[in-house]
Amino acid sequence: MQFNIIETGGRKLNAWHCYTHGRNALRFAVCDGLTTEWFLFVVRDITKSPHNTVRSLPVKTSLFKYDALFGWLREAGHDEWASELQQACRQATDITGHGNLEDWKHCWQNLPDMGGHLKARADGRVAVVGQVSAEAKSQLRSDLLNFRPWRKGPFDLFGIHIDTEWRSDWKWNRLRDHVELRDRNVLDVGCGNGYFGWQMLAAGARRVVGLDPFLLFVMQHEVIRRYAGDSLPNDVLPLGDNCLPQRLQAFDVTVSMGVLYHRSSPIEHLQSLCGSLKHDGQLVLETLVIDAAGEQVLMPEGRYAKMRNVWFIPSVDMVAKLLRRTGFQEVKVVDVTATTTLEQRSTDWMTFESLADFLTPGDLSKTIEGYPAPVRALLTARRK
Ligand SMILES: C[S@@+](CC[C@H](N)C(=O)[O-])C[C@H]1O[C@@H](n2cnc3c(N)ncnc32)[C@H](O)[C@@H]1O
Repeated sequence: MQFNIIETGGRKLNAWHCYTHGRNALRFAVCDGLTTEWFLFVVRDITKSPHNTVRSLPVKTSLFKYDALFGWLREAGHDEWASELQQACRQATDITGHGNLEDWKHCWQNLPDMGGHLKARADGRVAVVGQVSAEAKSQLRSDLLNFRPWRKGPFDLFGIHIDTEWRSDWKWNRLRDHVELRDRNVLDVGCGNGYFGWQMLAAGARRVVGLDPFLLFVMQHEVIRRYAGDSLPNDVLPLGDNCLPQRLQAFDVTVSMGVLYHRSSPIEHLQSLCGSLKHDGQLVLETLVIDAAGEQVLMPEGRYAKMRNVWFIPSVDMVAKLLRRTGFQEVKVVDVTATTTLEQRSTDWMTFESLADFLTPGDLSKTIEGYPAPVRALLTARRK
């Protein structure tokens, strides 16, 4: 399909991924082989649009706008869950007395308005590109700093490089060839600020539903979404895995990265991931592991790498067994990598302590508590 986009100077673009949003909008991704750009075009009436010519109009944004997601869930027959989520999201974001949330909302409301579109860059940055003045850019930079610490990324907003604590693009590179995303509906449990959701969308996912109960990360997503285009189907709901019903069976792909060891009931976490998938759906599980033969588990006495909430670090064989016991088949270990201080480090956008401070000085193979230093495994499996 070829569109003649008036606002891009009449450039002819091949849209390999094009959806209509009712009668009034088209969104599609354009890929030049290296990078993917998302465009949202609002037209007066697609059916009357001559010669596939569409004109973009400004799209109005607002905070915590999940109507399109709830509509999609209802259409897919998940009415009850949609209503539960709607109520839970309202409760999670209407808190009075959460001082930070009020500040973040205020900062968000006062962000400068700029037009841009999303681009997944070959260097791993999720970017929003567009023309802005030097003055607007400087204002935006100082506004973005109000949403620190930025942990997952990197992002690039109008040329402002958000150098996040984590090089999440390295994890994405380890993952991208092992997950089937084209036209798939994806659930990302513990998605942080939605960085992977944008990457998955750019890689062809139809829709990404992220869950993360930590409101700062939800707000960071709202910031990116505001500039990327709030009709793009990458939502981050301010909720945890406990919002998942037992037998939801709604998603083609479910992702859980960096969550398992934070759950005091890891088996229940895996059961809820399994229940979220349709028949033959794919799971992507990423977790801390111990580098040990056989089925073993490390349960730290207290903190692990200064983290209070690490309960259960299995060996790779143990993760595979847990997956089989909780209903998964075709379990594959696709990567095991030790985290380095190049992948996780303090930056101007995350000024607190980072991995270098969590390891034993002079012995980077041990955490500060004397446990094996972080190693992460990435597995895939299927629900049959
Ligand atoms: C280590 S981070 C991983 C973020 C991202 N998935 C990644 O791999 O970079 C863990 C995330 O899980 C979220 N989280 C904690 N408890 C959760 C729960 N019960 N359900 C869903 N997410 C949870 C945290 O807020 C945090 O953003």
